[in-house]
Amino acid sequence: MMNNIESFAGQDILSVSQFDRASLNAIFGVAHDMRVLVERFGSAELLQGKILANLFYEPSTRTSSSFTAAMQRLGGQVISINNVQYSSVSKGESLPDTIRTLECYADVIVIRHPEVGAAATAAQYAEKPVINAGDGVGEHPTQALLDLFTVQEELKQMNGLTVVMVGDLRFGRTVHSLTKLLLKYSVSFVFVSPELLRLPADILEAVEACGHSYRQVEDLHTVIGEADVLYMTRVQRERFTDPAEYDRVKDFFVIDQELMEQAKERMIVMHPLPRVGEISYAMDDDPRAAYFRQMRNGMYIRMALLAALLGKV
Ligand code: NCD
Repeated sequence: MMNNIESFAGQDILSVSQFDRASLNAIFGVAHDMRVLVERFGSAELLQGKILANLFYEPSTRTSSSFTAAMQRLGGQVISINNVQYSSVSKGESLPDTIRTLECYADVIVIRHPEVGAAATAAQYAEKPVINAGDGVGEHPTQALLDLFTVQEELKQMNGLTVVMVGDLRFGRTVHSLTKLLLKYSVSFVFVSPELLRLPADILEAVEACGHSYRQVEDLHTVIGEADVLYMTRVQRERFTDPAEYDRVKDFFVIDQELMEQAKERMIVMHPLPRVGEISYAMDDDPRAAYFRQMRNGMYIRMALLAALLGKV
């Protein structure tokens, strides 16, 4: 458990379970400073001479480029491996060997991988800090941190909120991590999905164990008026083994201006992105649409984490 900012130095970030409220506040404070730094100066030299290895076995736009931008804005450099088919992985190199190789050259490793637990395996073999950037349907801790940071920046509070999560709650790793992280605050949950895409049992049990109020429903219309945070997600096509199943649930919900008329005036719509139709483009000009601000926050959170893990805060 990391409970102050100094204790981050040299650690891995594998799961949101590593954070408590004190460490979250600490990281959000640094992320806020990073925003000010970028807005005033664009960049700094805090991580000059440091190298990040960005190792992606699954597609990514925001996560990989925000880690790259975060490192570069702090004066560091990046080795990017996002076409693993052109690396020695395609020759059959194992994950432990790939990791051991990269840590010869880099000071910190970011990994995204299709298998649950892959980041933890990488961390076992690496001496240098490893950051989980998504392990299959498992976790995506840095996304959850930026999501929570967004809630704090936008609504200035966590306690007392009703969080409505919509879409693929079964395969969406961002939902898994964010739900676990929100258990540290007193929030109420409404989980909106077709039956096939409900939250995994272990996460629901964790919600129950914490005594948080929650409901599972299929109809967004009846609950949208309660939302302080409306967290939309994409149906994770790549996780389905049966394409017919995907087709049945893929157009589960589209949120548009008409639906938003029933929402509170002071609330936010979030989405980890990419969107594939769940949010109409017409929504983008609504001041409650926070998803572009949310992704910008990703860079500040990742700057804060990199600086903390490398012992520079
Ligand atoms: C998410 C992911 O990869 O889990 N994307 C992201 O990191 N912002 C969500 C998704 O792909 O649907």
